Amino acid sequence: MSDRSVPRYEAALKVTGRAAYEGEVPAVGLLHAALVEVPIARGDVVAVDASEAERTSGFATMVSYADAEPLKPSPATALIRDRAVHFAGQPVALVVADTLSAARDAARAVRVTTQARPSVTHMAQALNTAYVPAMVGRFPSVSNRGDATAALADADRVVRHRYETAANIHHPLEPHAVVCWWEGDKAVVHTSTQAVFGTRAMIAHAFNMPPADIRVISRLLGGGFGCKGQLWWPWMFLAMLAAKKTGRPVRLELTRAQMFRLVGRRQETVQDLALGFSTNGCLTGIAHHVTAQSSTHAEYSDATAVYTRYLYACPNVTTSHLLVRTNEPQPVPMRAPGTAPGLFALESAMDEAAVRLGFDPVDLRVRNFADHDQEAGRPWSSNSLRDCYCIGAERFGWARRPAQGTAVDGRWRIGWGMASTMYPAIRQAAKVRVQLAADGAVLVQCGTQDMGSGTYTALGQITADALGVPVDRVTVELGDTVLPDGPFSGGSQVTASIFPAAAAATAKLRATIAAMAIADEASPLAGQRLDDLEFRDGSIRSRSGNVGEPWANVLARKGTEGLEAEGESGATQHPDLTATSMGYGAVFVEIGVNAGLGEIRVRRVCGAFAAGRILNPLLARSQYVGGLVGGIGMALHERTETDRATGRMLGETLADYLIPTHADMPEFDIALIEEDDPHLPGSVKGIGMLGTAGIQAAIANAVFHAVGKRVRSLPIRIEDVLGRR
Ligand code: MOS
Repeated sequence: MSDRSVPRYEAALKVTGRAAYEGEVPAVGLLHAALVEVPIARGDVVAVDASEAERTSGFATMVSYADAEPLKPSPATALIRDRAVHFAGQPVALVVADTLSAARDAARAVRVTTQARPSVTHMAQALNTAYVPAMVGRFPSVSNRGDATAALADADRVVRHRYETAANIHHPLEPHAVVCWWEGDKAVVHTSTQAVFGTRAMIAHAFNMPPADIRVISRLLGGGFGCKGQLWWPWMFLAMLAAKKTGRPVRLELTRAQMFRLVGRRQETVQDLALGFSTNGCLTGIAHHVTAQSSTHAEYSDATAVYTRYLYACPNVTTSHLLVRTNEPQPVPMRAPGTAPGLFALESAMDEAAVRLGFDPVDLRVRNFADHDQEAGRPWSSNSLRDCYCIGAERFGWARRPAQGTAVDGRWRIGWGMASTMYPAIRQAAKVRVQLAADGAVLVQCGTQDMGSGTYTALGQITADALGVPVDRVTVELGDTVLPDGPFSGGSQVTASIFPAAAAATAKLRATIAAMAIADEASPLAGQRLDDLEFRDGSIRSRSGNVGEPWANVLARKGTEGLEAEGESGATQHPDLTATSMGYGAVFVEIGVNAGLGEIRVRRVCGAFAAGRILNPLLARSQYVGGLVGGIGMALHERTETDRATGRMLGETLADYLIPTHADMPEFDIALIEEDDPHLPGSVKGIGMLGTAGIQAAIANAVFHAVGKRVRSLPIRIEDVLGRR
């Protein structure tokens, strides 16, 4: 293992159970909260009556619409200010009491009167209301390059199919929680969030307060996957209102049942995709049209068809996105939003095309490699996708792929499949502060939070490398709005975003200490040339001469209390880019289908990924494996069910939602292909969600290879391979 493979900064805390999560923060006089939900999927709240609840033991107070009314209107306050019910299970009030069970008893005693109205509980019911959103994330929702319609009409071969993906739920192990209190007009909010600064901004807006009067803290998260953001805010605001009303700290933690309904989901999609080819296997036209679910109280669309604009060379490409509003929970980003469902369709269709055209699936992709970004008409900052195909195929042994439908292992019919993956590499603005103590200790601080992906470790490592000290000399502080502004944890952007800020801060410190040493008569480095000095092994050394000393000595002689510097870096400026940055990968899988039972097992996975320079191979591998595990879940297990009659989300506990377990997991072989990228600071690209996309199609393609059934909807279940459909 490489010496860059530093284990997790917080690993010991987590595995010994000493890690404190924000929902566990102690507070004197703490009140416990429970939400009051309504069962109707659409309608209006007529009355919320707490008179019976008030008589239950331990009851402290209830907050509802009247209490939320003074909050400023926004998408984050709409659900608690307006009396409209948008989905079954929507909370209409929050009760606080001395104990959690007292709060739950009191919540059950609240009488809610509603006026139900007809609801839409399935996209299919309301297709006539489908509309085009202006944007899908940061991309326009409709694109046209060349003339795809004409190209498809003229193509030698056309593969045209409908692909579908189910609604999924994030289900991080740690549910959303808040412990909050007021100190006069100031708010202290301990909450599990992927965005402490975003949370602070939304509180400041809702409560009309200066951000400086709000402290949001989120030092450790037990996962997030995209759901620890906006949809949690209304329920957190209710807890804050209750804390204000009672003058006591309040704790709210969502139940697992509420995690099915209150914090978002991966939207359901129906995708119509057509690929046109010439007989020599070159793409001549692509049309990718997506219809997806959204809610009646907010708008969100994954950029599902967007990656079809980029992945392959093709002169004629059209893509579009439609949304259908239903009385189901609001979608938000979830584990490779857009790429995972979109590449399932594109990469399944490429496999169908390979079969039709008689090409090996890898060869067909290599043939259609895009040597530049054809959508924006500019170069890639770097693109090692062909190396991913080549190295992945070699490690997997792809050249020995058996003929379709011929491989068996006992009762198991064996299939091999592969797919490409990609994910954009972008950055947010970030500030990082580094402090050096005269005893040689280093402290690095950034307000961004570690959602479990290794931000503590990465920042500690970047700082240690830049200062030439061992990583255990560095203390890292994250997840608090009193620290310098940092990015939200999402879009696989954090490491790339904080890298240049940390580099700037440490460069300032190196320059300052080196100048101090050169000017210090007592230093062996006195009079040396600045550009000849390097930081290594805790010392400043001359590269050409045999002189040096620990930099702590330089500080100690000055009797300073230490040094501090802040570094700052900006966000990616999309319109001005001279090159497009993405991470790439190729995923190869072997699956077995039990001939009698239809059970599908993933037996072997090889992922070859190219995403810039790898700072920590141990963590990078863990990110890819985690992503692939999530991808296997989406491919074979996860589906959120709506009871179409009532609009109720079916699911109360984790046992009601299929997710992959250890026993479902194969052997993972991860190839890390390093790239030099002259356009990116430190050649750093994000890697988190690259591994999450692609594998869904690789599995579907392997199922076809094993049993000759093309399954075009996720998740792929036993009935899909055994039945006639
Ligand atoms: Mo993510 S789905 O960007 O947390």
